Amino acid sequence: MRLFYAIFPPRTVQRTLAEAQRSLRGNWKPVREDQIHLTLGFLGDVPEAELARVRRAGRDAARASGPFVARVRGTGFFPNEGRPRVWFARAEGDGFEPLALALREALPEFLADERAFKAHLTLARRKGPAPRVAPVVFDLEFPVEAFALVESRLTPRGPQYTVLDTFALKERDERGKQRTAKGLAKHPQAD
Ligand code: 2AM
Repeated sequence: MRLFYAIFPPRTVQRTLAEAQRSLRGNWKPVREDQIHLTLGFLGDVPEAELARVRRAGRDAARASGPFVARVRGTGFFPNEGRPRVWFARAEGDGFEPLALALREALPEFLADERAFKAHLTLARRKGPAPRVAPVVFDLEFPVEAFALVESRLTPRGPQYTVLDTFALKERDERGKQRTAKGLAKHPQAD
C-alpha cells in the first residue's frame, strides 16, 4: 500500500489555493482542489502487515503535539533553480516540524529522507514545457487540529486518495489527562 501522512486544510483554504491555479500556463498539471494537502511524511510502499504500526505511529505523534495555527502567504518552486517540477504554497506553523520529526523517528525505515522537511502544499506539477508561474500572495490561516493517514492509488486519471485514519492533535498534560481540540477538522476523501 502506498501511504502518506498529510494535513488537509479546510475547504475554503483549498478553494482559495485552487483559484491561484488559474494563472498556470503550459504543461502544469494542477492538483485537484479537494486533494490539496500538506505532506507530513511520504512512506511509499508499505506491506499491509505494517499497517497497524503505521497507525500507532500516527496516534503517538498526534498525542505528543497540540493543535496549532498554520499560515499560508506565498508560493515557491521545487527545485527553485533551473526547471521547476513542483509549484507550491509555503506553509508556516510551529507544529509542522515536530510532527514530521516524530513520525520520522517512529518509522525511520519508511520516512528516512536526507531532504529537509519543508512544509508546503503542492499546487501543480510540471509535466512538460511550461513557463514559471508569477508569485501569488495569500493571506490564509487555518487551525491544524488533526492529520490523516492516506492511501494513494495511482490511476491513469490521477491519484485516488483514501483517508485510512485521522489523528486528533491532543497534547497530554502532566497529569496524563488529554486536552481535546474543539471542532475536529474534517478530512475530505477524494475517492
Ligand atoms: P508533495 O507533498 O510535494 O506534493 C502523495 O504522493 C504525497 O506525498 C504528495 O503530496 C507528494 O509530494 C508526497 N511525496 C513525497 N515524496 C514523494 C515521492 N518520492 N513520491 C511521491 N510522492 C511523494
